[in-house]
Amino acid sequence: MQATAIAQPNIALIKYWGKRDVERNLPAVGSISITLCALYTEVNVELVADLPGDVLLVNGVENQPMLPRVSACLDRVLGEKRAFARVASDSNFPIAAGLASSASAFAAMTVAAAAAANLSYTSEALARLAGATSGSAARSLFGGYAELSNSGDTINVSSLCEPESWPLEVVVAITEPGPKPTSSTVAMELSRQTSPFYDRWVLQQEHDLDVARAAILKRDFAQLATIAEHNCLKMHSVMWASRPPMVFWNAATMRCLQTVRRLQGEGCNVFFTIDAGPQVKAVCLPAEVERVRLALANTPGVQKIMTSSLGSAARLVNAA
Ligand code: DP6
Repeated sequence: MQATAIAQPNIALIKYWGKRDVERNLPAVGSISITLCALYTEVNVELVADLPGDVLLVNGVENQPMLPRVSACLDRVLGEKRAFARVASDSNFPIAAGLASSASAFAAMTVAAAAAANLSYTSEALARLAGATSGSAARSLFGGYAELSNSGDTINVSSLCEPESWPLEVVVAITEPGPKPTSSTVAMELSRQTSPFYDRWVLQQEHDLDVARAAILKRDFAQLATIAEHNCLKMHSVMWASRPPMVFWNAATMRCLQTVRRLQGEGCNVFFTIDAGPQVKAVCLPAEVERVRLALANTPGVQKIMTSSLGSAARLVNAA
């Protein structure tokens, strides 16, 4: 009655920001992401008959604040009459810092919990379950390029393109490894309620999705770069105009954007994207990765660099 699964975080190129149904965690907008391969979360779920309650260990340390969300995730996968579980989650990158650790953690937890109880679900059904806990987690059930749609009555994710079909690289510039002040869940709800730009954001998303999907399908880097940067900056504009304003960037975040702009000016195929945190993700063609890595590493304020190719879907490691 235990199982271990691994999932990789995914980075949205067209962002999910806002919910149309908070209760069911249905997104207000569709999103398109790439799953990374170098960053991962490994989750072990052990169902124990005589445990008095669920227990969560994050990187070896007991964690109470995250426990209600984990228990709710287990309830969704296993039903509320389940045995309590000991859950151990280990990530090889900073957590809660805008690097999509909740996406990889809840994707892996969903796969591990189902396997520990010997339940078999399709990837689509696992994505639906993971996405009900954290929207972005649904996309980590798929490798390469994935699209999370906002239509219909449930969470729907589909694969757009396998990683080997268009092997982009991602350079992550970590400017502040500590946890971010506001969770995405809280921040996006605040945006929906208070930002004067929120409605326009939702209205324009279909267009951005169409442009990005077409760019991916024809492997058009310039088209993907332009629409991904535009979509990212729009999401941050929605946040900046919320009350209270949410500015996740720091001075080094801005310097990284300037580095990317300089590289682009020199003809380098690279673009940036930023999530609800101060880290900058630079997406580039494989031939440019060393140049982008060096330029970002030499940008003042960058504390750590991680590079990654595109990765595969969440998967089971063992079950017994
Ligand atoms: C900025 O998936 O963390 O990374 O569904 O409330 O758990 P919840 O939100 P979450 O939000 C991710 C926001 C984002 C953009 C994205 O990944 O699409």
